[in-house]
Amino acid sequence: MPFEYLPLPGAPVGQLDTPALVIDMDVAEKNISRLQKWANRNKMGVRPHSKTHKTPLFAHKQMAAGAIGICCAKVGEAEVMVAGGVKEILIANQIVGATKIARLVALANDASITVAVDDAANVRDLSAAASAAGREIGVIVEVDTGMHRCGVDGGAATRKLAKLIASSPGLRFDGVMGYEGHVVAQRDFEERKTEATAAARALVEAAEDLRKAGLPCKIVSAGGTGTYNITGTVKGITDLQCGSYIFMDGDYLEVFKDFSPALSVLATVISRPVKGRAVTDAGIKAISVDRGLPKVIGIEGAKVAGLSEEHGRLEVSGAAEKLKVGDKVSLLPMHGDTTINLYSHYACVRKGKLEAMVEIAGRGRSR
Ligand SMILES: Cc1ncc(COP(=O)(O)O)c(C=O)c1O
Repeated sequence: MPFEYLPLPGAPVGQLDTPALVIDMDVAEKNISRLQKWANRNKMGVRPHSKTHKTPLFAHKQMAAGAIGICCAKVGEAEVMVAGGVKEILIANQIVGATKIARLVALANDASITVAVDDAANVRDLSAAASAAGREIGVIVEVDTGMHRCGVDGGAATRKLAKLIASSPGLRFDGVMGYEGHVVAQRDFEERKTEATAAARALVEAAEDLRKAGLPCKIVSAGGTGTYNITGTVKGITDLQCGSYIFMDGDYLEVFKDFSPALSVLATVISRPVKGRAVTDAGIKAISVDRGLPKVIGIEGAKVAGLSEEHGRLEVSGAAEKLKVGDKVSLLPMHGDTTINLYSHYACVRKGKLEAMVEIAGRGRSR
């Protein structure tokens, strides 16, 4: 099915059909450059997580700015990136099962592939597939630095896995990663700093322990948007995996304003049934609510009161009572990544005009 309409470049944002996922390219590019400049000053690598934008265009912008590679969460995302010409991929997730492992190994024909593990049987499966295909893939051990999601304890468990990787045909031991997801959105800076520093130090310690055991760690990767300037100052961390910083979202804007919002959903008022209520065409199929209801941008007195599948219910008062059927409303999603995953295309705009409709090729690639 072709894209149902294709607005011409130069069209004013207000003329886009809705719901539309709008990216302000100037702002996104400034965010990319801001993180990269900070990292350059602090001699830190940037390996942005592409799970946010899911699109080779933005990965290439990050690489052109100086990123050393990109992260992906899924093989499907990595396939899109490699097909789009991105050559340095770290899958910051466990890839389990013969079907996915075969696809992972195939990617190594065209790109440098590194994957995270936290399980010995998974290491053996990766090794068998890579060596049968005559390929080498990089493997890093995921260390649980406090999030208690995936990952093994630093120390003996990490050492055991690292030794297994280093002695497995088809695999190259590359180092360790640890994602401090439990603190990236901590609102209080001092608390965020204390906890993220502890997490990063635990990871660095695990890497030092491995080096002492004769296992060199080229990669000691960690960090999210909310901790870039904390994790990124801990000696021994080699690179940051920040993802959300490129567009920001409502949730992260409550953490800090170091990066600016580049992402919004444009909606149309489709009904003004009674005073005090306006209804838009952007429901939960157009904007995610897993981190809360979106915010109306730039219209005083307008507030999102609830979303159903295809409708957004706004409470309007004061100046916002002027909203009429057909008017456009910009909404700030509280969670960018899950909202982006709902769309086939970005409407990329510059100075209020459409620059291009860009396919979100990695959208829905959750296998
Ligand atoms: C393993 C890993 N690294 C990095 C990130 C990037 O985090 P953020 O979007 O906070 O920048 C995530 C986010 O979920 C993640 O799961």
